Amino acid sequence: QMDTLLLGKNILVTAGPTYEAIDAVRGITNKSSGKMGYAVAKAALEMGAKVTLISGPTCLPSPAVDKFIPVVSADEMLRAVQTEVSQIDIFISVAAVADYRVASICLQKLKKPINNLSIELIPNPDILMTISTLPKPPFCVGFAAETQDLEKNAAVKRNKKKLPLLVANLAQDAIGSDENELILLDDDGKHILPKAAKIEQARRLMKHIHLLYNNKLKK
Ligand code: C5P
Repeated sequence: QMDTLLLGKNILVTAGPTYEAIDAVRGITNKSSGKMGYAVAKAALEMGAKVTLISGPTCLPSPAVDKFIPVVSADEMLRAVQTEVSQIDIFISVAAVADYRVASICLQKLKKPINNLSIELIPNPDILMTISTLPKPPFCVGFAAETQDLEKNAAVKRNKKKLPLLVANLAQDAIGSDENELILLDDDGKHILPKAAKIEQARRLMKHIHLLYNNKLKK
C-alpha cells in the first residue's frame, strides 16, 4: 500500500522505552515494546516520508527507515532528538520515556546491602515538551498511555505540552499488544480509531497527521 501523501516530508519518530542505569548491570525501564512507534515509522515510510527513528532498547528487528538511531537513556534520546530536530517537519513522540533517572550511577555492580537500599531518583527532561515549546517547533504529536481517566488526562497533557495532536490509549490494552484502540485529540475535538492492529492504527494516524499538517500549512 504505497502512496505519496508525505513525499519529501522529514519525519522523526521516537519509540520504545528508555533504560536508566542503576549500576553496571541493573537499571530502571518500563514495559513499552516499541511496536507502536515502529508501526508509525513504517506507516510514514509507506506514505513516502523520509523517516528517522530514534529507539530505546527493544526486541524488535530494526526497520528499514532512512536513519535508525539506537539510544539507551532519556538523556541520550533527548540529545539525539536535538541533533535531528532542525531538519524535520513532523515529530511523533511515541517513546515511553522514563520520568526519572538515578542521581548517581554506580560504575561497579552494587553489593547487596544488609538492610534496605534507597536509590535517589531525579527527574528526566521532557523530550517532547522541550521540542514542542521551541520558538519554531516542528509539527508535534504526542502519545499518552493512561490507566484511568484517559480522555481527561490526555486533554490536560495536550494543553500542557502545546500539541496540535495527542494520541491517547489505555495502557493496559496497548502495552506489548499487537492491537489497540486510539483516541485522537486535536483542536476539533476527538476522533476514535476503533480497535485494530497497530500497523493499521499507525496508517490511520499518519493520514490524520497529514490532514492536520496540510491545514496548518494553509493557514
Ligand atoms: O507526560 P507523559 O509521559 O504521559 O507524556 C507522554 C508523551 O510525552 C509521549 O509522547 C512521550 O513520548 C513524551 N515524553 C517525552 N519525554 C518525557 C516524558 C514523556 O518526550 N520525559
